[in-house]
Amino acid sequence: MFDALTRQPDDPLLALIGLYRKDERPGKVDLGVGVYRDETGHTPIFRAVKEAEKRLHETQDSKAYVGPEGDLVFVDRLWTLVGGDTINRSHLAGVQTPGGSGALRLAADLIRQMGGKRIWIGLPSWMNHASIFKAAGLETAGYPFFDVPSQTVLFDTMMSALQGASAGDAVLLHAGCHNPTGGVISEAQWLEIAAVVAERGLLPLVDLAYQGFGRGLEEDVVGLRHLIGIVPETLIAVSCSKSFGLYRERTGAIFAVTTSSSSADTVRSNLAGLARTSYSMPPDHGAAIVRTILSDADLARDWKEELETMRLRISGIRQSLAEGLRDRWQALGAIAAQEGMFSLLPLAEADVMRLRNEHGIYMPGSGRINIAGLKTAEVGDVIDKLKNL
Ligand SMILES: Cc1ncc(COP(=O)(O)O)c(C=O)c1O
Repeated sequence: MFDALTRQPDDPLLALIGLYRKDERPGKVDLGVGVYRDETGHTPIFRAVKEAEKRLHETQDSKAYVGPEGDLVFVDRLWTLVGGDTINRSHLAGVQTPGGSGALRLAADLIRQMGGKRIWIGLPSWMNHASIFKAAGLETAGYPFFDVPSQTVLFDTMMSALQGASAGDAVLLHAGCHNPTGGVISEAQWLEIAAVVAERGLLPLVDLAYQGFGRGLEEDVVGLRHLIGIVPETLIAVSCSKSFGLYRERTGAIFAVTTSSSSADTVRSNLAGLARTSYSMPPDHGAAIVRTILSDADLARDWKEELETMRLRISGIRQSLAEGLRDRWQALGAIAAQEGMFSLLPLAEADVMRLRNEHGIYMPGSGRINIAGLKTAEVGDVIDKLKNL
């Protein structure tokens, strides 16, 4: 019966990891994988995470089931970080999920369950977005979000797409630190988006996977908070993978902002039911770590400080890259003002292959680079290689 299956293509980013590992050249540079790296090329465990793990090790006295909604203290603390005091909490339904991907999938399942059929996605987007939504049975509708040669967000195109969407359609929005473009939506533009979404009766699904990596922890949710203040119903998928460095612990949450406590209760029960028939319950460890950090003022302060050093490192590399590249490609000066770990270089696939084969500089064929994959000492060399393509 397994013969009925066809071999699925390998994930190109995972294949890239394999190629990079096999490369024995000493100066090789990995700009492919989407994880934060420090100046030594290492993906560190936050000090606060280590300390929280130590405390959990000493105090945790059971591994009994928690439940499909996960750790509700974690969910509550995480919401404070995301939404602050913007809404009445009794109108909020929040459920812990296996990472941001699990949150997106649960959101998509919920949209299907409530009769939604279609979700709008600005392109290019994170590769998994369309796959997750399609796997849940949603139709995806794409519109151009970013022009790579000029490095600009196509805001007018986005607004036309939203104006053409039908009531009941869902709309995917990146809260910030857009993957893969780094393109920024200004506060004024968020207000315009919120107005159209509310007017057209659309359901926004906001993906928040990089809080703290753009302009700062609070700054990175300003747009999202405007949105939930204006639009009556919103879904928010949160990933703790980057912001807490918990990638493999699969830590995240899905939040639904609703219009009443009874609606929130109904949504919560649906989310829990969908979780139950999928993975039953989310893994506990990552959420317990985040709960411990966010429940302790000293740990939280230390976590914020370390996150800020990461943000500043990325921002510094962005400034140097933009400075070095703008005389060859004027548009790439925009890299300085873009946010988050990623930017999308205007390279042909042949250029990407030359960089890989001739110089050991690895990135996917799309030209997406992980800025955090660069050490300060490598920036000059990478700029030279790019300029000499
Ligand atoms: C835009 C975006 N959303 C969601 C995710 C999901 O993160 P995870 O499932 O690892 O928490 C990622 C991960 O790279 C991402 O880039």
